[in-house]
Amino acid sequence: MPLLSRKATCSFHGQDSSYFLGWQEYEKNPYDEVKNPKGIIQMGLAENQLSFDLLESWMAKNPGAAGFERDGQSIFRELALFQDYHGLPAFKKALVDFMAEIRGNKVTFDPNHIVLTAGATSANETLMFCLAEQGDAFLLPTPYYPGFDRDLKWRTGVEIVPIHCTSSNRFQITASALEVAYQQAQKVKLRVKGVLVTNPSNPLGTTMTRDELDLLINFIADKEIHLISDEIYSGTVFSSPAFVSIMEVLKDRNPKNTEVWDRVHVVYSLSKDLGLPGFRVGVIYSNDSIIVAAATKMSSFGLVSSQTQYLLSAMLSDKKFTKEYISKNHKRLQKRQSKLVSGLEKASIGCLKSNAGLFCWVDMRHLLSSNTFEAEMELWKRIVYDVKLNISPGSSCHCTEPGWFRVCFADMSEDTLKLAMQRLKSFVSSTTINNRSHQDLKNSRRKLRTEWVFGLSFLSLNDREPD
Ligand SMILES: Cc1ncc(COP(=O)(O)O)c(C=O)c1O
Repeated sequence: MPLLSRKATCSFHGQDSSYFLGWQEYEKNPYDEVKNPKGIIQMGLAENQLSFDLLESWMAKNPGAAGFERDGQSIFRELALFQDYHGLPAFKKALVDFMAEIRGNKVTFDPNHIVLTAGATSANETLMFCLAEQGDAFLLPTPYYPGFDRDLKWRTGVEIVPIHCTSSNRFQITASALEVAYQQAQKVKLRVKGVLVTNPSNPLGTTMTRDELDLLINFIADKEIHLISDEIYSGTVFSSPAFVSIMEVLKDRNPKNTEVWDRVHVVYSLSKDLGLPGFRVGVIYSNDSIIVAAATKMSSFGLVSSQTQYLLSAMLSDKKFTKEYISKNHKRLQKRQSKLVSGLEKASIGCLKSNAGLFCWVDMRHLLSSNTFEAEMELWKRIVYDVKLNISPGSSCHCTEPGWFRVCFADMSEDTLKLAMQRLKSFVSSTTINNRSHQDLKNSRRKLRTEWVFGLSFLSLNDREPD
């Protein structure tokens, strides 16, 4: 009889994906300007390190918040003993206000409807436990965040059925793609319990349109299923179009007290917008009080520590600070994203036009030796081992078109990004693909670059020049 559980020994954790393997390679040989200048540069980590100075300067001005003090008195004992899974009321209030502020105060959130979790990872899994049985399915548009294979499926036994989106319309969700995914699930006898989207998208770095959000609400109303909107990147939207939360669309349709109202759930976290993944602060927001009650009980398995709640309730209640932080962080992200886009452009590489996130969705289809995922892996390995950049291949995000890569830009210094782009440029210049003459290659890259970087039109693989 096996001594370990099937869960412990199965491979459904998804952590053998190239997404995580790239991190492992980076760990073995991490770049450091002084100690290891030839090491691997980490561009596969969606971390926001651009605004730490703002957080640090707030902490320096407010030492009591981190020093467990209230009105000059120590509250160490109070915090050490606090263990109510409903969370600190002051923190929940500050958090919902921050969520509303990020959404331009077009929607408000009731603190009684939030559940605190140890990051969005825990929030998404908890929602799976609340909404689905083992063997039920959730539909997810591709490409999607590789961690979902672990977070949604591993411990819950829930299945993911992809909604295939393509470059022909900038990977937007269509009614037919939704229907095909739904039918596909039914064909293999999976009961569909909902759709989960990430808005803004990881890995695309784009926000969803109002039409897409409307389409999703119509779809879940028609099929009588749930919708989860993971809005972890909502505070990273640095240029137009502006971010539209699913809650804003829902409110505008005014379906209060209808079943759809109770079937839309939002996931949020401070890991990206505030750059605090180590603090493990996540949120489930739901209009359904049964889900809120069940998820609150489940949150016992992954609470946010009381000193973290205390510190952040002071920080997020400081409206002057949050306003300045949001605005400066946007500007810094925008500047950094354009540095990446122009660096890629110099290497004759284009990317999907984006307005959010900590990464770009980069088009390297023209660098593939053939239009296959084997060729994508071949290119990825060369980029990791020879060029020494850890980026994430599209296949790890379940993209259906080979040749796309997610490249992060906010977890390093500007100089490191510059070096990464120099390495990439040298690599591209020294590579001749498919025996094409250098000039042919340059011409076709120029064509792709114009179309992708500036987002003038969108090529599908079929539209490409023959190799
Ligand atoms: C879309 C998405 N959801 C959830 C997570 C997990 O975030 P957290 O650190 O809050 O658990 C990530 C992290 O990259 C993400 O990109």
